[in-house]
Amino acid sequence: MARPKIALIGAGQIGGTLAHLAALKELGDVILFDIAEGTPQGKALDIAESGPVEGFDAALKGTNDYADIAGADVCIVTAGVPRKPGMSRDDLLGINLKVMKSVGEGIRDNAPDAFVICITNPLDAMVWALQQYSGLPPEKVVGMAGVLDAGRFRHFLSVEFDVSMKDVTAFVLGGHGDTMVPLVRYSTVAGIPLPDLVEMGWTTQDKLDAIVQRTRDGGAEIVGLLKTGSAFYAPAASAIEMAEAYLKDQKRLLPCAAWVDGALGLNGMYVGVPTVIGAGGIERIVDIKMTKDEQAMFDNSVEAVKGLVEACKGIDSNLG
Ligand code: APR
Repeated sequence: MARPKIALIGAGQIGGTLAHLAALKELGDVILFDIAEGTPQGKALDIAESGPVEGFDAALKGTNDYADIAGADVCIVTAGVPRKPGMSRDDLLGINLKVMKSVGEGIRDNAPDAFVICITNPLDAMVWALQQYSGLPPEKVVGMAGVLDAGRFRHFLSVEFDVSMKDVTAFVLGGHGDTMVPLVRYSTVAGIPLPDLVEMGWTTQDKLDAIVQRTRDGGAEIVGLLKTGSAFYAPAASAIEMAEAYLKDQKRLLPCAAWVDGALGLNGMYVGVPTVIGAGGIERIVDIKMTKDEQAMFDNSVEAVKGLVEACKGIDSNLG
């Protein structure tokens, strides 16, 4: 059987890391697409040349032509610009919305059967726009945010508790931004919920609150340290986990920015929710129960996402 084809739209920091991880894990052959000439070709060749050393079998190709993504099984989208000093959120929105239009049309025309994972920010609004511009079914277009946010939360918790990261699970809902909702009640160490661990004296409520806040600010913390860019290792790893769940029909329960229509009291919008990812794409939205406080935080996050979507509609009246 032919290897799966993975198209990476955007060959920047995250795109290059995605290509490397996809090859190392032998998820399939990789097409690296970018509008910048030379960058995707150079990165693809460099990674391919590591193949004999690493011992992976995967073909890599860099391109500036959408025709090369034809028939892709998975497309991971990182095309766009990051926010620069002095740039307003609306400036960024306007620029990346145009990028989503060209990427969505490129996918529509060349890889309409793909499972599409969007990473470009502001995430919840960009994945919504990408679904519209591509016209692909909503269950095949999803945003990567929750796996990354939960990963950050799990890392901080494992350090606080001095236990393996493997045994820490975390649950993060809502939009990918300041309003995200890390749900402590559903986050555990080997099944023991965080509030119980506070009672057991493993940590204090104050320390837990600080970890929750650090998770919310996780992206900004990396930007502050790197100064010239934003996080790329953990975002790439997170999207690869989602791609693998789809390609191997793993039925993983992963938090993603997914189209929610009916569950969690929502009527048709993209926002971070727990999902099951398998060969059908988003196969299920997990309709969890929330306490009053959790619901209030989630509602607040939903409103923030709606605000971004309205801003997109203001920029492109064809979006509906
Ligand atoms: N089509 C294809 N590629 C494009 C387009 C376009 N219309 N516009 C820009 N690009 C490419 C750039 O040439 C660049 O190589 O997208 C790439 C983006 O790479 P980086 O600037 O290195 O950004 P990266 O760190 O990879 O992050 C990408 O993910 O986390 C989000 O906020 C982040 O939106 C940003 C995205």
